[in-house]
Amino acid sequence: MPSLDLAWIRAQFPALAETVGGRPAVFFDGPGGTQVPQRVIDAITGYLVHSNSNTHGAFATSERTDATIAAAHAAMADLLGCDADEVVFGPNMTSLTFMLSRSIGREIQPGDEIVLTRLDHDANFSPWKALEERGAVIKVADIDVEDCTLDMDDLRRQITHRTKLVAVGYASNAVGTINDIAEVTRLAHNAGALSFIDAVHYAPHGPIDVRALDCDFLACSPYKFFAPHAGTLYGKREHLQRLNPYKLRPATEELPGRWMTGTQNHEAMAGVTAAIEYLVEVGRRTTDVSGASNQGSSVASRRSSVVAAMHAIRDYERGLAEKLIKGLVEIPGLTFYGIREPERFGQRTPTVAVRIKGHTPRQLAEFLGERGIFTWDGNYYAINLSERLGVEPNGGMLRIGLVHYNTAEEVDRLLSALRETAR
Ligand SMILES: Cc1ncc(COP(=O)(O)O)c(C=O)c1O
Repeated sequence: MPSLDLAWIRAQFPALAETVGGRPAVFFDGPGGTQVPQRVIDAITGYLVHSNSNTHGAFATSERTDATIAAAHAAMADLLGCDADEVVFGPNMTSLTFMLSRSIGREIQPGDEIVLTRLDHDANFSPWKALEERGAVIKVADIDVEDCTLDMDDLRRQITHRTKLVAVGYASNAVGTINDIAEVTRLAHNAGALSFIDAVHYAPHGPIDVRALDCDFLACSPYKFFAPHAGTLYGKREHLQRLNPYKLRPATEELPGRWMTGTQNHEAMAGVTAAIEYLVEVGRRTTDVSGASNQGSSVASRRSSVVAAMHAIRDYERGLAEKLIKGLVEIPGLTFYGIREPERFGQRTPTVAVRIKGHTPRQLAEFLGERGIFTWDGNYYAINLSERLGVEPNGGMLRIGLVHYNTAEEVDRLLSALRETAR
């Protein structure tokens, strides 16, 4: 079983040395954005010092900028299992999804159907709902409120021969449920529709293989996987070539540039490459632990090292989630939303949502925040879900989101603080 070297991992992230009131800060706010390794900070600074320029100029810093951008596309391609020209960069997932929905909207005819879900972040809802302006009919697949899983029978019912697009999240940023994306894509394709996957929440928690999933589009946000604030969109080459983006005339028609409007955040792209190199090193160290050697530096081995890292991260996080959820459900007055049985943890990330009787989620987050434990309260834009669960009028839920740099000791600190407040 591969394992993570937690001491080495934590030493990579300077922010983990933060203290609040003399105690180490506990970052359980990962689903809102993760901390970055030192090498990401160095890459951003290095870009701004040595390469800061616009693109395609006939001088050194511009050439370095072109190389920085190319490297970021190649690194993302290794993370996702695709080709570099199938990766589009943008400011964030929301903006990229609006950009894509507008372009797909150019092909929408009145009466065409789009299938969405109640589990999703609003960034995978409102950009598609906006296509009602073009006559699209929006259909929404329900959830099973008992365990906050997608109701796959309802999803099947919603997909018809008129469906043009099925947009589903890889995992819920509120309750952690992982959806069967390969099956969603198969259902979409059987109906002749496209599949759009929001992998923003899933990306830091497990390996992604867009070819194996066969999805048409997949979006993620590097700032959720240890990189700076940026957004990325994978699209199958055939779609990125065929669809008609809103773009400026002098901008290239080549992929992926035809989808990347204006000047990009080059320093963030340098940081994205560094974050993926961090994951590569996690993977190489993991395979070293198990005795296998994976020291090559070819692109193929970068992909296999990233995949090894994400498998090890997933296994480690499952252990943490088990400890967290076991402790949470024993707290008197606590309502737990989502999958709780360890044997089903393959269907969830270590992101959990709870309420505790007698306290609003905001009060709980403040109580924890004062003790240096960072969590979120509210709906985190998963507004359909918080409405469906009936918690929206009462402050939503408290969200505790673990990532691989969190520890069992941090989980213990959270549990004892929550036990104290529940008394
Ligand atoms: C599941 C999910 N989708 C989409 C988004 C939006 O991402 P961005 O901030 O990059 O627009 C978020 C952000 O929290 C998210 O968690």
